[in-house]
Amino acid sequence: YFIMRDKKKQNYSDTVKHIAFIMDGNGRWAKKRFMPREYGHKFGADKFREIAEYCRDLGIRYVTFYAFSTENWKRPENEVKAIMKLFIDYLDNALETLTDDVGVVFLGSKEPFSEDIRKRMTDIEEETKSREKKLCIAINYGGHAEIVDAVNKLISEGKTSVTEEDITNSIYSGVCPPPDIIVRTGGEMRLSNFLMWQSAYSELFFLDTLWPDLKKSDVDDVLKQFGKRKRRFGGV
Ligand code: FPP
Repeated sequence: YFIMRDKKKQNYSDTVKHIAFIMDGNGRWAKKRFMPREYGHKFGADKFREIAEYCRDLGIRYVTFYAFSTENWKRPENEVKAIMKLFIDYLDNALETLTDDVGVVFLGSKEPFSEDIRKRMTDIEEETKSREKKLCIAINYGGHAEIVDAVNKLISEGKTSVTEEDITNSIYSGVCPPPDIIVRTGGEMRLSNFLMWQSAYSELFFLDTLWPDLKKSDVDDVLKQFGKRKRRFGGV
């Protein structure tokens, strides 16, 4: 019985289409170790890879990570540089390390990035765009900016009034359904401008665990709890 239970792999492809993570707590994780904040981000980036892969193995088709917000540019220059370096390292290896069923989508305006980085981002998106599963990375992402950009795009296309459907189709994540689950690590209970439009009916999970300490079993626990929640979407 135990052997069988070990072998049975959970598959959430029917019940969880999209899970999103706010990766908070890297700075505190590093501080606890008397190390600079950048050290926490490095372990945070490794954790991002591990959890992305794990969610894919569980059959979840869309997985989103909040890597950098439009407000994060206000952080000390060294820290911004360190996060950008980790991001560029990721871009360098993404195509070799992704399994061939996972495509990357970047959520956020690419405008502040250099031409070279923008090109690498669009190349990865293009190269992987027909893949069935999506790994969405929110970088230079702001939920309010996303809605404003969507409305401006619609205006530029000649619209004088917009519907909910128009906005849903024009936001950065046009290809993704809204998240069923949003997990925030690090103990704060807020969304911090993440997926403002899409989170209307998401189930929220706030974990005290600092992001680099997150375990696969913590993800299992969230999924188990999600299964017990009653989602009514405003109905009864
Ligand atoms: C929040 O923790 C974390 C961030 C603002 C950056 C997250 C970035 C990465 C994990 C690495 C780069 C991403 C990729 C895609 C490779 P915090 O610094 O706010 O922690 P604190 O609340 O303890 O200070």
